[in-house]
Amino acid sequence: MYQTIVAAGEQAIGERDIDPVLDLEAEIGRLREELNAVILAHYYQDGEIQDLADFVGDSLDLSRRAAATDAEVIVFCGVRFMAEVAKILSPSKTVLLPDAEAGCSLEESCQPEPFRRFREQHPDHLALTYINCSAEVKALSDIIVTSSNAAAIIARIPEDRPILFAPDHHLGRYLMRQSGREMTLWPGTCIVHEQFSEREIVKLKVRYPEAKVAAHPECPDSILALADHIGSTRSILDFAITAEGRDFIIATEPGIIHQMKKRAPHKRFIPAPGAEGECACNICPFMALNTLEKLYLCMVNMAPRVEIAEPVRVAALKPLQRMLEMSLTVPTAAAAE
Ligand code: 13P
Ligand code: SF4
Repeated sequence: MYQTIVAAGEQAIGERDIDPVLDLEAEIGRLREELNAVILAHYYQDGEIQDLADFVGDSLDLSRRAAATDAEVIVFCGVRFMAEVAKILSPSKTVLLPDAEAGCSLEESCQPEPFRRFREQHPDHLALTYINCSAEVKALSDIIVTSSNAAAIIARIPEDRPILFAPDHHLGRYLMRQSGREMTLWPGTCIVHEQFSEREIVKLKVRYPEAKVAAHPECPDSILALADHIGSTRSILDFAITAEGRDFIIATEPGIIHQMKKRAPHKRFIPAPGAEGECACNICPFMALNTLEKLYLCMVNMAPRVEIAEPVRVAALKPLQRMLEMSLTVPTAAAAE
């Protein structure tokens, strides 16, 4: 498989070398100054990482920030495809990812060769691809979308143009219902959003009868059918802090609840459980790989670092630029800091 992550070399310092009395937050702050770095974090990161970041956002807002930054180093606290997007959009910057293994089940489900064949089987179709995919798959796509701009972008595609949508099957079905457009779907799913249990959410609704449910469109239809609000992580956050009511059941990765509690401390945010009720399967295991220690180490070692072969980067840039151009009307987060 084509690798975009350069691992730390043998001289690199590891977790065992960290002085246990070191003030990691202060050291990360010092390195940020020294390296002229910006720390970007997704809402699914640990609260302590979110609190250290210069900007916390959803996939679209993070892409916009990565494209616009004048920092020399982008430290991306998220998963690999997000760090790759930062490098594709800002090739002159050094892009660091705290853990090289921070992947994504959607990215894994859609490998470049099968995706190329999928395209070849539908030569007249436009390939609309969810941003949760590798740089190589982006390079084979026509337009990239996120959950916050997909509907707006689909509305701008001529009615008679057939569409392939990859890799998230549930998001694809949701978009078909929303847009009234047929699309040919790739069969990928997110292992986190796939786990939410309809039965457990109904039980929560009985226990908290006034609670509103907010869900990410990566959830299956049965969960979306219970939702009062469906949208990207940022739109779920906006809904939870601005909507009337006190109780909110949150059907997305619970890392986002950190921001909700900060911004609306008087409200109650209840994480939607997985099928076993008490299991931790609603936590993204890839996002959870990034820790404060690894964030510090990647800034010391300047690795793991994203490097993308120029032909792949240039090919992947095209559909990403189309995304940014076609979603100019989609507002940026008002106050995601
Ligand atoms: P958004 O932040 O764009 O809603 O994406 C959610 C997600 O699953 C990221 O991996
Ligand atoms: Fe991928 Fe799902 Fe984790 Fe997002 S939550 S990074 S879609 S596995």
